[in-house]
Amino acid sequence: MELNLSDGDIKSWEEVQLLYNSALKQINTKIEILNDEFQEVHRYNPIEHTKSRIKTPESIVKKLKRHGYESTLENMIRYVNDIAGIRIICSFTSDIYKIADMVSNQKDIQVLTIKDYIMNPKKSGYRSYHMIVSIPVYLSNKIIDVKCEIQIRTVAMDFWASLEHKIQYKFEGSAPAHINQELLECATMVANLDARMLSLNDEIQALAGTKDKG
Ligand code: GTP
Ligand code: MG
Repeated sequence: MELNLSDGDIKSWEEVQLLYNSALKQINTKIEILNDEFQEVHRYNPIEHTKSRIKTPESIVKKLKRHGYESTLENMIRYVNDIAGIRIICSFTSDIYKIADMVSNQKDIQVLTIKDYIMNPKKSGYRSYHMIVSIPVYLSNKIIDVKCEIQIRTVAMDFWASLEHKIQYKFEGSAPAHINQELLECATMVANLDARMLSLNDEIQALAGTKDKG
């Protein structure tokens, strides 16, 4: 029996946590395997590190309220796409798309939505690649599809996002204009840095390639 989480079979927050935790474990393992395989084939790790978390009940309730929904388990499951979240940090922008492709190609992962804030950065300057996916979790008597948000970004994008998040948190979302302006300029510098590091790396790879042949 394959159920969707929003079919209304879930009775408690503990059960919700169990499901989302299981989904995170499965996706984390998949990502680890993909990284190991990549290392084996290409002698190179596309992933620097990953972080995963379950959203706290407080921030789920806050989000539901912000969108005008009552705080029920059903609404959580239906409307909050990032109860389970994984952040994948890599070195180069090109790695982001490689990782996204590898994740999408997993037979049991279904990609629900993609937001490419690298091609289309946010007004804040935020850059990152977001996927909402669903993955089946196998329990003793049923299979349940569970949603998870995957954020993929470079180390430099992550550096920017953490500071920007800290600042927005401190000023409760309304930081002084000059700080926002400064952050926007830093975001452009980050994008330029990522582009230069990528092209340097490409050059080094090409040189290493000719050396191997010669
Ligand atoms: P949320 O309600 O914030 O989850 O946004 P959303 O459902 O419209 O999705 P979106 O893809 O825009 O953002 C999801 C997540 O990306 C957020 O929860 C943050 O973790 C991150 N994010 C989005 N925009 C920004 C930003 O401007 N700055 C930082 N630091 N993080 C951001
Ligand atoms: Mg969020």
